[in-house]
Amino acid sequence: MATERIIILSSREIEKMRRAGRLAAQLLDHLEPMVKPGVSTKEINDEAERWTKAHGAKSAPLGYNGFPQSICTSVNEVVCHGIPNGKEILQDGDIINIDVTPIVDGYHGDTSRMFFVGIPSPTAKKLVEVTFECMMRGIAVVKPGARIGDIGAAIQEYAEANGFSVVRDFVGHGVGRIFHTAPQIPHYGKRGKGKKLRPGMVFTIEPMINEGTWEVEIMADEWTALTRDRQLSAQFEHTIAVTQDGVEILTLREEVALKQSA
Ligand code: MF3
Ligand code: CO
Ligand code: CO
Repeated sequence: MATERIIILSSREIEKMRRAGRLAAQLLDHLEPMVKPGVSTKEINDEAERWTKAHGAKSAPLGYNGFPQSICTSVNEVVCHGIPNGKEILQDGDIINIDVTPIVDGYHGDTSRMFFVGIPSPTAKKLVEVTFECMMRGIAVVKPGARIGDIGAAIQEYAEANGFSVVRDFVGHGVGRIFHTAPQIPHYGKRGKGKKLRPGMVFTIEPMINEGTWEVEIMADEWTALTRDRQLSAQFEHTIAVTQDGVEILTLREEVALKQSA
């Protein structure tokens, strides 16, 4: 990964990423009403798989490095890469991240959101709101000439100012025809450090923010990452493109371009 070149996408390829990203966002919209007490994460997975196929796309996670299901479902203390399971039944007060990546015409749309199951605790609600704002602050600094470290710094400052911590073990990533490629996008770091952003770069920003320690543990299934202290974790993810004058979020139902001042 460290030695891979950063791929610059053409405007034709970015249009394909827009289509994949839009389908990914629509898939999350479609799954949202299923998130209720009593539903299993496997039922959500199976509906995601059915809907993805029905729209002529493919679920990238299924079989990716041996991942056994079509989406990731990460509940409460699960940081990321939770495996949907028929025995995992959502309960009132849970928080869940659903992470989807349909492949449309060869291109990956990678996005995730948090959902509340019933009524969240005040802490859970605050963690989820802060995590969304972390992602948006990371996106807001993206423009040609900005540096990768600017993204992590914006995220880390806001998370820590709110008393939360930033996961180190998982990062955002270049995405396109390849699911995970250069560059790596840490969600912590220092302003002014790291590679310069250039128009046509496409990558994810997907901060995982923890209530307590940032340290994680991987379960025996070799996928599920949990907080070491078993306190809550939240995550949001968008796939974005660096444009001529700012940033475009590709994983939206509709296109939105944000111009940055120079
Ligand atoms: N969608 C995840 C990401 O944001 C990756 C999932 S890989 C899997 O990068 F194999 F766990 F599905
Ligand atoms: Co991703
Ligand atoms: Co993802």
